Amino acid sequence: VNVVLRAARTEDCEQIYAWNCAPDVRAVSRDARAIHFDDHRRWFARRLKQAAPLWIIEANGEPAGTVRIDRDEHERASISIALGAGARGRGIGRRAIQLACARWDGPVHAEILDANLASRGCFEACGFVKLEHHAHLVTYVWTPEAP
Ligand SMILES: CC(C)(COP(=O)(O)OP(=O)(O)OC[C@H]1O[C@@H](n2cnc3c(N)ncnc32)[C@H](O)[C@@H]1OP(=O)(O)O)[C@@H](O)C(=O)NCCC(=O)NCCS
Repeated sequence: VNVVLRAARTEDCEQIYAWNCAPDVRAVSRDARAIHFDDHRRWFARRLKQAAPLWIIEANGEPAGTVRIDRDEHERASISIALGAGARGRGIGRRAIQLACARWDGPVHAEILDANLASRGCFEACGFVKLEHHAHLVTYVWTPEAP
């Protein structure tokens, strides 16, 4: 599968809502509560104005999911990814995470619920290393290779 990242645009609002706010994705998020579309729309409009990257993942030219890197409350870069259910298990997540990290200048963290074995396996396959594990949350870090 050919995987590319392109910057998200205003018209991707509904599509990103469908991926990020799908019940099976919310269920593996830190805060599992449902998100109303209006709240998503406000978040998305603000988020698009920020410098931090927010991408659409395209697999063989078709939109497959979304990945972004945010600054968390500790000023760490933190990656989030969600693929549509039909796009999972074909190596797209792994490739998208690798591409996102390669475009970021510095270490990238990922916080994953300990029960989300698919995601943990995927991040580990990308070279993420476990940093800490508490309260059902595992924190991983990826560090770029020294030049
Ligand atoms: C997690 C997610 C991004 C993984 O992407 P993916 O494209 O499905 O995963 P890949 O096909 O690239 O798999 C890469 C590796 O991850 C692991 N993996 C993937 N799916 C797995 C599963 N269901 N169970 C266990 N390991 C799994 C494997 O190690 C796999 O390597 P392999 O194919 O050589 O065995 C995707 O499944 C997804 O969007 N899930 C829902 C949202 C989510 O959980 N987001 C992350 C929240 S922290």
